[in-house]
Amino acid sequence: MRRYLMCRPTHFAVTYRINPWMDPTAPYDNALAVRQWETLRQTYLDLGHTVELIDPLPGLPDMVFAANGATVVDGRVLAVQFRDAERADEAPAYAAWFRERGFDVTEPKHTNEGEGDILLAGDVLLAGTGFRTSHASHAETQEVLQRPVITLQLVDPAYYHLDTALCVLDDTNIAYLPSAFSPGSQAVLRQLYPHAVIANAEDAAVLGLNAVSNGRTVVLPVQATHLAAELQSAGYQTVGVDVSELRKAGGGPKCCTLEVRA
Ligand code: ARG
Repeated sequence: MRRYLMCRPTHFAVTYRINPWMDPTAPYDNALAVRQWETLRQTYLDLGHTVELIDPLPGLPDMVFAANGATVVDGRVLAVQFRDAERADEAPAYAAWFRERGFDVTEPKHTNEGEGDILLAGDVLLAGTGFRTSHASHAETQEVLQRPVITLQLVDPAYYHLDTALCVLDDTNIAYLPSAFSPGSQAVLRQLYPHAVIANAEDAAVLGLNAVSNGRTVVLPVQATHLAAELQSAGYQTVGVDVSELRKAGGGPKCCTLEVRA
């Protein structure tokens, strides 16, 4: 059983563009986003997980993407610092949520967007950089969270956060889109994860890798049919969820989900 923090998309909107998925001139449906998010939340409850909630704040349309709110390992919280001013005010709200519950919260000196770019994989942290989270923050992350950090260079602007290009399946395996990474990082991933599940371009284009695994069951966008089949062949169960409305902001199930490792 896992403990997740989520934020209802009460104020969800696409009013600015900080990644290639966002088109402020295109229509979006807030009520549908809320319904899709409720289904995701219910999926976690049905799997036996705990879901805690943080109050959504007006004027912060991306606050639903709770993964960007912090990174939490062994009860230690590294708070976040967003690259973009549009999301800056989310950082203190998430830090306060953890402080109020007695967590040990460290304020970052460098830009890092939480679990969007920093993923615990067994005993190590996989950390993305290239678009949002700065390389300098990786050293800080290692000091604060006390796990070895492996830097991965993201190269495709469509996959601007690590969690859009790579999913941790369990302590020893991942799924990823090789072309989202630099040649050197691809070599590192091949070395570390020789049995990784390899996603294709169609999977990634529906944010299929933005998935949440508890080690056995992977919750992923229902549109990612090839990836679901690959995961099943690798021995995982899959649950498809439709969060197409949130994808208009460049997010999927994982973006909506912050794991609280107390
Ligand atoms: N619109 C948000 C942004 O660009 C989406 C964040 C998605 N979150 C994630 N963990 N990938 O910042």
